[in-house]
Amino acid sequence: MQSASHLTWQSSTLNRQERAMRNGHQSCTLWFTGLSGAGKSTLAFALEQELFARGKAVYVLDGDNIRHGLNRDLGFSPEDRRENIRRIGEVSKLLVDAGIIVLSAFISPHEEDREMVRNFFAPEDFVEVYVKCSLAECERRDPKGLYKKARSGQIPNFTGVSAGYDIPRSPALVMDTEELSVEESVKLLIEYLEGQGLLN
Ligand code: PPS
Repeated sequence: MQSASHLTWQSSTLNRQERAMRNGHQSCTLWFTGLSGAGKSTLAFALEQELFARGKAVYVLDGDNIRHGLNRDLGFSPEDRRENIRRIGEVSKLLVDAGIIVLSAFISPHEEDREMVRNFFAPEDFVEVYVKCSLAECERRDPKGLYKKARSGQIPNFTGVSAGYDIPRSPALVMDTEELSVEESVKLLIEYLEGQGLLN
C-alpha cells in the first residue's frame, strides 16, 4: 500500500456549520446493516424519498450499486468485505463533510468492520441501524433468488448460509421488518432524526 507520509492535508475554508446553515439541517450517516433481503435498501430508499420531499440533502449508498462501480474489483471474502466497508465508510464521511444525510445500506456482516467505520466519525455523526429480520424470513422473501442459489452451492460465502453475520451489539436503532411496515419504519427513523436535532 502507498505510504501517506509525504502527503499534506488541505483544509477547506468552509466548515460543516456553514454547510449546515445553507442546507438548513445537520448531516450524518445512517448505517443500515442486516442480512440480504432484510430490507436495508427498501428502508434506505423510502427514507431518502421522505427526506428529499422535506427538502433535505440526502443520498443512498447501496451495496449492489456500489459494487457495480467503485467496488467492482471486490468479492465477498472477509478481506474484500472489509475493504468494501472501509471504502464506503470513507465515502460516507466525505459526503457527511459535504453536508449530506448519507444512508449507507450494506450487509456489513462483521462487527469489527462496522466498528472500523464507526471510528471514522464523531459519535453523533454515525447512527447504526440494525435492519432485523430472521434468516428464515429473508429466505422466504428471497427477492433476487440468491438464497436459492446459495443453498444449491452456486454462490459461495453467502451471508447467513455459508458466511456469518454478527448481530449488532448496541445499534442506535433496530428496525424489525417482520413487525413494522416500511411506512412505520420510516416514521420511526424520521422521529429519531428529529429527536437528535439533525433535521434543523
Ligand atoms: S458486504 O457484506 O457488506 O460487503 O455486502 P454488500 O456490499 O452490502 O453487498 C451485498 C449484496 O451483494 C449481493 N451478493 C451477496 N451478498 C452476500 N453474500 C454473497 N456471497 C453475495 N453475492 C452477491 C446481494 O445482492 C447483496 O445485496 P442485498 O441488498 O444485501 O440483498
